[in-house]
Amino acid sequence: LNNGLAQTPQMGWNSWNFFACNINETVIKETADALISTGLADLGYVYLNIDDCWSAARRNSKGQLVPDPKAFPSGIKVLADYVHGKGLKLGIYSDAGAFTCQVRPGSLHHENDDAELFASWGVDYLKYDNCFNLGIKPKERYPPMRNALNATGRIIFYSLCEWGVDDPALWAGKVGNSWRTTDDINDTWASMTTIADLNDKWAAYAGPGGWNDPDMLEVGNGGMTYQEYRSHFSIWALMKAPLLIGCDVRNMTAETLEILSNKEVIAVNQDPLGVQGRKVYVAGTDDCLQVWAGPLSGHRLVIVLWNRCSKPAIITAGWDALGLESSTSVSVRDLWKHKDVMGDAVASFSTQVDSHDCEMYILTPQTAVSYEI
Ligand code: GLA
Repeated sequence: LNNGLAQTPQMGWNSWNFFACNINETVIKETADALISTGLADLGYVYLNIDDCWSAARRNSKGQLVPDPKAFPSGIKVLADYVHGKGLKLGIYSDAGAFTCQVRPGSLHHENDDAELFASWGVDYLKYDNCFNLGIKPKERYPPMRNALNATGRIIFYSLCEWGVDDPALWAGKVGNSWRTTDDINDTWASMTTIADLNDKWAAYAGPGGWNDPDMLEVGNGGMTYQEYRSHFSIWALMKAPLLIGCDVRNMTAETLEILSNKEVIAVNQDPLGVQGRKVYVAGTDDCLQVWAGPLSGHRLVIVLWNRCSKPAIITAGWDALGLESSTSVSVRDLWKHKDVMGDAVASFSTQVDSHDCEMYILTPQTAVSYEI
């Protein structure tokens, strides 16, 4: 969407994956504080997004949405002021249907009033869900809210949550700043890997202004191992996915913070070239040894060697799979060890990768080359 936002994928936090409906203004304020004190805000995680269940069960007598009086007694504007005071941005949630997924009032046919209200509160981001959609196509239901947000005069990030219905990559570039390519993620290896593969299909449609959204991060929620979360974060970064933290940042382990704070991996996600990396090579049983790659600015490439098999294995990225001439010499930097590991790799690069783990590298050609992935 050409509203000036999303030149790189959005980064921030969202309440749903960890808190679901157990949210309130204290949680949101404490999360704002934690984003600052942990250093995550400085790394770019600036959107603090409230998901479903912030609103009361009914509109007021004027037909306006109202914050749940128990959970958000001070109202949303106070929260927006609070997070703005810390240099963060506030996101809210509604639904392109009669109700939200948790059966709070939806915004279908209330687009203008609700967008006005969000803007008057100082909201910076809207996630717009797909429940109770009355059988109307997403293509019909999502543009009215874009127009309504636009008409407020406030620049608001517009995140479509249509679950991949009707192949949004094909039409949502003009509608939103990101669009979901799949159903909801859950905190398992099976869900995360399936979603990565589904999102991969739409790589060609992502770019500055509009990104494929394979759903929010589960890193730190406990259902996957350290290696699996490292893979999750690496692949989401390479795919130019939104990096929306989904754990309780007030109570993170050191490992979780280490993964989410990897500056070199974040820089891949936020690279100004804005090209979504893809799965470029597979080997092994059920294609479980994988090379994912994509171009970066400055004629560089990022590669992720991803072992989805049940045993450690050597994975080789051949220059042919990366679109490089086999004689091209590149230097190799390891983004998890934060070390230059080779000055002059030619033809291929191999490394041993643990089961369900990945290694991630930037390849910098010695001389500027053109390549095609
Ligand atoms: C849907 C969305 C989720 C979350 C929930 C909230 O399932 O896809 O991301 O917003 O609704 O009810």
